[in-house]
Amino acid sequence: MYLLIPAAGSGRRMGSDRNKLLLDLLGKPLLAWTLLAAEASQTIEWIGIIGQSIDWEEFKAIVRSLNLTKPIHFIQGGSTRQESVFNGLQALPSDAAHVLIHDGARCLATPTLFDRCSQALESCDGFIAAIPVKDTIKVVDNGAIVSTPDRSQLWAAQTPQGFSVPLLKKCHAEGRQNGWEVTDDAALFEQCELEVRIVEGEETNLKVTTPVDLAIAEFILRQRLH
Ligand code: CTP
Ligand code: MG
Repeated sequence: MYLLIPAAGSGRRMGSDRNKLLLDLLGKPLLAWTLLAAEASQTIEWIGIIGQSIDWEEFKAIVRSLNLTKPIHFIQGGSTRQESVFNGLQALPSDAAHVLIHDGARCLATPTLFDRCSQALESCDGFIAAIPVKDTIKVVDNGAIVSTPDRSQLWAAQTPQGFSVPLLKKCHAEGRQNGWEVTDDAALFEQCELEVRIVEGEETNLKVTTPVDLAIAEFILRQRLH
């Protein structure tokens, strides 16, 4: 299975002066934990890291320090996540049939989750990892509630997300043509009226976005390592 790791953000909401994926988490840069999970998965055979030029030197040092056995490719990122994934898709070998896309910032995803996701692509063209929403969600306009969607139908989207490569390329092309701006790849599939299935994600598979997330991630990792 091919894996693309979007890692070309700046981590604005983390409030740090550099890419949050370079921040320390229990003695390793955040990105290292993501790479170690991909390395430990049984199904991933090819890893593409999508990054900004300013981070190449540090990304390459991380990869060297981990002594990974799987081939690693470095791909130039874009100005949005959508553009970064688009670039990643162009960099896949031409015979790639399926791809998993997993945010570098979700550094707690387990190897088992990667493998469950790879397996899902044997029986569908598109899926996302997701978990049932725990909170009651309100739709709000101008400071007042508009509606309360039925929680049993609400799922929180995670990555990995996986797709047929030719179909996802087509959806990205259509998205560019029509100016669709989306925050995940499933949204492009949806816009093209293609089915996206749900694979049970992991409650601990959080996206490190703010300093609080970093503290929670550290707590979860400590528990795991004990
Ligand atoms: N990402 C990317 N290319 C971009 C923007 C984001 O590859 N132009 C990646 C990030 O590196 C991250 C993932 O997409 O692994 C999810 O994005 P997010 O959590 O929003 O990270 P940032 O964009 O770095 O953070 P922020 O939005 O707070 O600036
Ligand atoms: Mg972002």
